[in-house]
Amino acid sequence: MKHVTIAIDGPGGAGKSSVAGNIAKQLNILHLDTGAMYRAFALTALESGISLSDTQAVNTLVRRIKIKVRFEYGVQRTYVNGNDVSGLIRTPEVSKAASDVATLLPVRKLMVSLQQRIAKSQSMVLDGRDIGTRVLPKATLKIFLTATSEVRARRRFDELTQKGIEVTYENILADVKARDTQDTTRAIDPLTVAPDAVSLDTDAMTQPEVEQKIIALLRARLAEQGNTRFPFFQREPLTFLYRVAMVLSTIVFRTLYPVRYHGLAHLALDAPFILIGNHQQMLDPLLIGWKVNRYQIRYLGKKELVKNPLMRSLYRRMLMIPVDRHNMDMQAVRACLKTLKEGHVLGIFPEGTRHKKTLMQEMESGIAMIALRGNVPILPAFVAGKPKLFRRVDCYYGEPFTVDEIAKGTINRDAVDAVMADITRRYHSMAAAHAASAL
Ligand code: C5P
Repeated sequence: MKHVTIAIDGPGGAGKSSVAGNIAKQLNILHLDTGAMYRAFALTALESGISLSDTQAVNTLVRRIKIKVRFEYGVQRTYVNGNDVSGLIRTPEVSKAASDVATLLPVRKLMVSLQQRIAKSQSMVLDGRDIGTRVLPKATLKIFLTATSEVRARRRFDELTQKGIEVTYENILADVKARDTQDTTRAIDPLTVAPDAVSLDTDAMTQPEVEQKIIALLRARLAEQGNTRFPFFQREPLTFLYRVAMVLSTIVFRTLYPVRYHGLAHLALDAPFILIGNHQQMLDPLLIGWKVNRYQIRYLGKKELVKNPLMRSLYRRMLMIPVDRHNMDMQAVRACLKTLKEGHVLGIFPEGTRHKKTLMQEMESGIAMIALRGNVPILPAFVAGKPKLFRRVDCYYGEPFTVDEIAKGTINRDAVDAVMADITRRYHSMAAAHAASAL
């Protein structure tokens, strides 16, 4: 498994450390608080009484100091020369001194190399000031967390007073501003937003909202990169036949019928949802399903496919839901709704059967019914053309959408027609976009 690194940078008090800690817990990976390492150095410098302008003394300390982090039950403890300083480094004096030592080149070099070594071989969330710009320029995801200095000072004030530490809001605000100035204006690796970082202004966001947003961004990033092995992508164990189908798809769509996929970021969508596709040939379920590999798709398939017992057993193992297309098959509709309720992905070809040229012209109304009743997002997949041996075909995942706005609570013939018209319109615009890109 390729490991995943998340860089969270930003000014002091933006909530980086608690957000990073919670994300790490959710992803079951480690969190490295890099500020703690600068703090550990600062504490040692304060205790030994060295002046930070004394270059020689600083260099000697850089050479001698042994800063170590250990993860005990997943929580970081910071050690200096074998002593646990995790509690001692949280005072306002150390905060100020940490910002001072962080301006010194030898100190930064030491910290950056230690941090790079720690993050080299495992998935991690790192928070600091220069993670995205210096420590991990190739981080999987870079986040820049901000908030106004007033909001940050208020948060820090609440945190410290809750711990029984006596402080005034005015003093904290002044400290926050002074540290901001020092962190953003220092000559070496000042606090800046990496060009490829996503900035999140947390003033109006709760902490869980910030965390959810970052996890969603990570999912989208990993989906874009085709990294589907990261732990939280594996939810349900695949049935044996489904796994076989996936392996076959890998071979077929990489070699015999090469597919170029677009819009993979839309696959970050969480189940339950309905995957729909245009249907021109037999490979379609595999072609549009192969990349949706976080989930095992339950495709709706025509009853004729399961006429004989062998096929019935095979399709059951592929989790297919059989449907009678010639009658309003309420049993199939109920099975679909149940599948969505259980949190799965339902795969439907709304045209009901394969078409040579039409694009969602003869849609069955069943899909609209299920979409309306299921009230879950719909992810449209569009295959632009029929795969030909060794000729590349394009497959687009469009933006997920919901139909509850269309129905406005009532499910009747008009709502069903409106949903079908909406789906048709979306497919026509995907086809038009493809045609324009192929020009
Ligand atoms: O994040 P925290 O407030 O614990 O960091 C203490 C100080 O360490 C910051 O004010 C900053 O100057 C410095 N620091 C840094 N680079 C990092 C982490 C912290 O310069 N990656």
